[in-house]
Amino acid sequence: MIIEVKNLKKTYLGRIPTNALKDVNLVVKKGEFVALMGRSGSGKSTLLHQLGLLDSPTSGEIIIEGQSIVLFSEKEKARFRLEKLGYVFQDYALLPELTALESVYLPLMLLGFNKGEYIAKATSILEKVGLGDRLHHLPKEMSGGEQQRVAIARALVNKPLILFADEPTANLDTESSVVILKLFRELNKKIGQTIIMVTHEPDDKKYVDRVIYLKDGIIQSK
Ligand SMILES: Nc1ncnc2c1ncn2[C@@H]1O[C@H](COP(=O)(O)OP(=O)(O)O)[C@@H](O)[C@H]1O
Ligand SMILES: [Mg+2]
Repeated sequence: MIIEVKNLKKTYLGRIPTNALKDVNLVVKKGEFVALMGRSGSGKSTLLHQLGLLDSPTSGEIIIEGQSIVLFSEKEKARFRLEKLGYVFQDYALLPELTALESVYLPLMLLGFNKGEYIAKATSILEKVGLGDRLHHLPKEMSGGEQQRVAIARALVNKPLILFADEPTANLDTESSVVILKLFRELNKKIGQTIIMVTHEPDDKKYVDRVIYLKDGIIQSK
């Protein structure tokens, strides 16, 4: 069991409080490729953010590799994210002034790897995602699909325990989307990468091991 969620609730406070997650219970096994699906506003991104330590739930438990992460301090969460988790979002979130290689080695630099190591690791993962000939390109010199593959390489470079992806193909054409989904499937099969991916695309179901449906903050089936 890599993730265990118990009675998870998230209420966004504000002028009108929103109960985005009502009572979520779920278990994800190591090496599983899971899709989170459901209508817009059903709580998919909210759930991903809680699992990915990007936000704190209102109540409930999240256990990752046996550790109760909701008890972590902000500092411990930041360290855990950097060392153990990888993220891919729909807008790629690449810094415009960094080349593909620089974007990918940045997290390793922050972790204190030496220059030889971080360049070698970043180059190798960029080659694996098919961008060996784009190392020194800036985001504006790449297609959307290529930029997303840089973001995926960046998320994977430190071999994360779990890869989180929030609608990673939402801004891509069909052809680039297929490349990304096949890449995820291959990583999942070849290296046993655990992946949790939010998607609204019914076609994506064929790439994953399991679909978890959310409706109004409640899991419909597991
Ligand atoms: N930061 C926020 N503040 C207030 N309400 C939010 C916030 N983020 C999301 N919500 C609300 O929580 C619900 C779930 O949102 P979200 O998790 O983004 O859904 P999904 O990703 O499935 O489209 C929606 O009703 C949304 O309006
Ligand atoms: Mg969302």
